[in-house]
Amino acid sequence: MSVVVIVGTQWGDEGKGKITDYYAERSDHIVRFQGGNNAGHTIELEEEKFKLHLLPSGILRNDKKAVIGNGTVVDPKVLLEEINNLEKRGVDTSNLVLSDRAALIMPYHRAMDELEENLKGNLKAGTTKKGIGPCYSDKVARFGIRVIDLYNPGSLRDKLETIVPIKNKIFEAFGEDKSWDVERLHQKYTDYGKKLKDYVDDVSVLLDNAIDNDEDILFEGAQGTHLDIDHGVYPYTTSSHTTAAGASLGSGIGPINIDSVIGIMKAYTSRVGTGPFPAELEDEIADYIREKGGEYGTTTGRPRRVGWLDLVMVRYSSRVNSLTELAVTNVDVLSGLDEIKVCTGYRHEGKKIKEFPADIERIYDYEPVYETFQGWEEQDWDTIAEKGYSALPENVKEYLEYIEESIEVPITHISIGPKRHQTIAR
Ligand code: IMP
Repeated sequence: MSVVVIVGTQWGDEGKGKITDYYAERSDHIVRFQGGNNAGHTIELEEEKFKLHLLPSGILRNDKKAVIGNGTVVDPKVLLEEINNLEKRGVDTSNLVLSDRAALIMPYHRAMDELEENLKGNLKAGTTKKGIGPCYSDKVARFGIRVIDLYNPGSLRDKLETIVPIKNKIFEAFGEDKSWDVERLHQKYTDYGKKLKDYVDDVSVLLDNAIDNDEDILFEGAQGTHLDIDHGVYPYTTSSHTTAAGASLGSGIGPINIDSVIGIMKAYTSRVGTGPFPAELEDEIADYIREKGGEYGTTTGRPRRVGWLDLVMVRYSSRVNSLTELAVTNVDVLSGLDEIKVCTGYRHEGKKIKEFPADIERIYDYEPVYETFQGWEEQDWDTIAEKGYSALPENVKEYLEYIEESIEVPITHISIGPKRHQTIAR
């Protein structure tokens, strides 16, 4: 039995989907524990490309359970669309399990996301506008609707009768021409409930039984450590616990059940949304990496900001997640550059700074300190994938081994292309 958690060590989009899919092969349960359809995972099977937002990557393997835990926020409209799209492409989704305790995204959450972003000025995080933040706010304020409410029509109506007039007043106060009708929402959401009923279960009990039966569980993190609501670059974060401890909270298993935590790290850094980014590049190297790496948001299509690998960020991730392994992705994307830099720390007023500050505004005054490496040419990555680690160019190995020593976590997987087989297990 093994319980493995996969987390992003940067700002999301580290290529977790592919590595998750690789581990999913060895797992019985693949669990999403936080976030919602703000995530975007692209999985390329040999012939086909799948873009998933809310569904766990395990959905593509119908001998595994694909589980959506209580720590997620679920937009039922989006979930049903994703299910229908996969079914149309011949994917059997009967292996999906949806937690009865997951919070539901309501249409007023999406509208509130938009309104709040417009009102926030410099505090704007550049959200995906999917209603994630407002849904988590309502959950914590004990003002939310959960999956289980869809199966208690009386209680759902009571809740909507209390909540909806308040939401409508807020929109009216801001001069927004938006309002929701309790009866229509009730109708719509009980209808979603009927369509989702067969998937709904108690995820904590399901996973507890799986642990008792020595089954393998994989927790699939979405976003990245530096977007965590507590440990990220607050307030330019998402609203959930993207770090490893979130796997326990967001699924209902105790933390001592977790055996290993794999951090996914892109060979450089990327970021969508606003906020500080110390090793950011804004020159032709940025354009080169962005185009070569297809650095455009899977969910919003926005061009991603890109920069050199920042080891301060990854060391921080190693600490807050208790990383036991690192998987490095997009190594192939850096091919063709003469030099590759790595940010090893920052400098401010003559002092070297090794830790990310809590007051993230200070980062704007920090100057990144770089170590420079020799680049490598474009390679026949398929042949290298077949031969394994030793076939990698010496400059790639030097780069990877420097990272490994600096983070003090072994690199166990190296991804050298988007396809499933283009991964080296070391
Ligand atoms: P929200 O999660 O939509 O509320 O957005 C909050 C912040 O997290 C914004 O900066 C988003 O761009 C960022 N974000 C949310 N989901 C992802 C993701 O899957 N990858 C990268 N950034 C994300």
